[in-house]
Amino acid sequence: MCGILGYIGGREATPLLLDGLKRLEYRGYDSSGIAVISEGKLIVRRSMGKLSQLETLIEKEPVDGKIGIGHTRWATHGRPSEMNAHPHKAGKIVVVHNGIIENYLSLKEMLMGEGHTFKSETDTEVLSHLIQRYIFKGKNFEEAVRSALEDLQGSYAIGVLSESDPGKLIAARNESPLIIGMGVDEFFIASDVPAILNHTRDVIFLDDEEMAIISRGDIKITDPKRKEVKKNIVKINWSPTQAEKGGYRHFMLKEIFEQPQAIIDTFRGRILKEKGEIYWEEINLSPRKLEPIKKIAIIACGTSWHAALIGKFMIEEFCRIPVEVDLGSEYRYRDPIVNHQTLLILISQSGETADTLASLREGKKKGASTIAISNVVGSSMVRGSDGVIYTHAGPEIGVASTKAFTTQLVALYLLTLHLGKVFNTISAEKRRMMIQELIRLPHQVEEILREESKIEEIARNYMKCNDFLYLGRGINYPIALEGALKLKEISYIHAEGYPAGEMKHGPIALVDEEMPVVVLITRDKTYRKVLGNVEEIKARKGKILAILDHRDEGMMEKVDASVFLPGTNAALTPILFTIPLQLLAYYIGVFKGTDVDQPRNLAKSVTVE
Ligand code: M6R
Repeated sequence: MCGILGYIGGREATPLLLDGLKRLEYRGYDSSGIAVISEGKLIVRRSMGKLSQLETLIEKEPVDGKIGIGHTRWATHGRPSEMNAHPHKAGKIVVVHNGIIENYLSLKEMLMGEGHTFKSETDTEVLSHLIQRYIFKGKNFEEAVRSALEDLQGSYAIGVLSESDPGKLIAARNESPLIIGMGVDEFFIASDVPAILNHTRDVIFLDDEEMAIISRGDIKITDPKRKEVKKNIVKINWSPTQAEKGGYRHFMLKEIFEQPQAIIDTFRGRILKEKGEIYWEEINLSPRKLEPIKKIAIIACGTSWHAALIGKFMIEEFCRIPVEVDLGSEYRYRDPIVNHQTLLILISQSGETADTLASLREGKKKGASTIAISNVVGSSMVRGSDGVIYTHAGPEIGVASTKAFTTQLVALYLLTLHLGKVFNTISAEKRRMMIQELIRLPHQVEEILREESKIEEIARNYMKCNDFLYLGRGINYPIALEGALKLKEISYIHAEGYPAGEMKHGPIALVDEEMPVVVLITRDKTYRKVLGNVEEIKARKGKILAILDHRDEGMMEKVDASVFLPGTNAALTPILFTIPLQLLAYYIGVFKGTDVDQPRNLAKSVTVE
């Protein structure tokens, strides 16, 4: 939620800020703004709406300067408007902020009592006034920011400039992500890596309550006790072109088509084919550490939660360990039973989702061992967990998760194989076979992607429908949920996912001639049952879009549209079923003219509760 960016160096700040904000726009896009120190004066430009509106404003009213901060907003406190857009100025201080200041009302009251006047409805403006207040009281810029942060409760990642100290950029974080890009004689601050990839791949990850005081040739990082801390510089191995559209119309489409490679990148270097073993560098879970584990809990939000549900099927079937799955937003509120015999797996593309992070803290407090499955090197979740399995999907910019999801499933498959060896529940022969299936997977995904135009045609035929139902069974029931979520996000069409066996317990009431039902059909022990569902939908004149894990000419005649997938083992079918559902949602969104990469009301990473 919200993207922040800052620059200090020898180049013009405005174009760098605008370019970086464009790359962060997926984090929020209801308003944006920049502040630049130009000839000793703080100049602020803000605009309601997408970043292009800010660009138009700056074309008309340019601003020069070599130090600046910028923000792209996803509204929490105060509606989207120019007045509420960041940066927020008070006296000679200007602030950009990502997070929520929970005690802002009491602070605002106190400040108003002292004569401060507020222009916005935001929580952030309180911070600029607080800093200004400490400066009035005689503190220097650095000390004023530190003192103001001590008054805050809540989460923040901030960038601050002061007109009285025009050569300094101050940044700080608590529970909201913030990185520092180390260029040559220049520094960047940013919410996320893609924003600065064009300029540097050397990054410092700020930890909670750390503050960076950055001037042109120097950077100092301090902890809450004002003690200087030495930080490691991490080299990011993403390339700048990975964060570009590369000729595709949308990031989402590019990311769908990147899946064969992303899947390879996620298993490459980790499988020992002949031995049927998984080789991990970073997981930090030796057999000895796993010995006491009696239960696994997988926690995630949104699409990552769908991956978690599939992980349960994989791990329980092959490793015979009980697995419970929770939503990050629910977990800590239900006083879960967790102890040192629990392995807690947190799944998060961004590694910054607030609810999943809070679940990690809850689990650690109760003694669980923890592993993060994440796509972002150095993210908060990764740094807070005992071990990590990186998905090597590359930057995912489209707000709808696509390649991050399928690579999470690959990571869970690898983890299943690993646990199956440690707990001796999957034979070496079986593991070798399962690895062979995994190696075939990227080609099978390519095969499905070649059906793009067929799925585009189906999308064209059904784009006008108001509701969709998605049905799946067993390990593919979460794919029904994922298909429905993707369609909702991208096209704003109401869609629901159900386990097919539940249809008669309620959702069948929705079926009529207007209602397309996407049915995921697998040739397993549930096959006949799902055929029964197909008949029941037909009897009520519903439209059936069937996706099958095998070729079935008979089915083609029964249903209104069908897509056949190549055959693989049951644990990998969710990955193959996902691909046509992503394309279906994408093309329906395109035909409806929605903003596919930045759907309304959403943000890529939900860093507030
Ligand atoms: O970064 P995370 O994986 O933790 O994000 C979780 C969800 O916010 C995310 O999957 C969301 O549901 C996507 N918009 C789905 O496309």
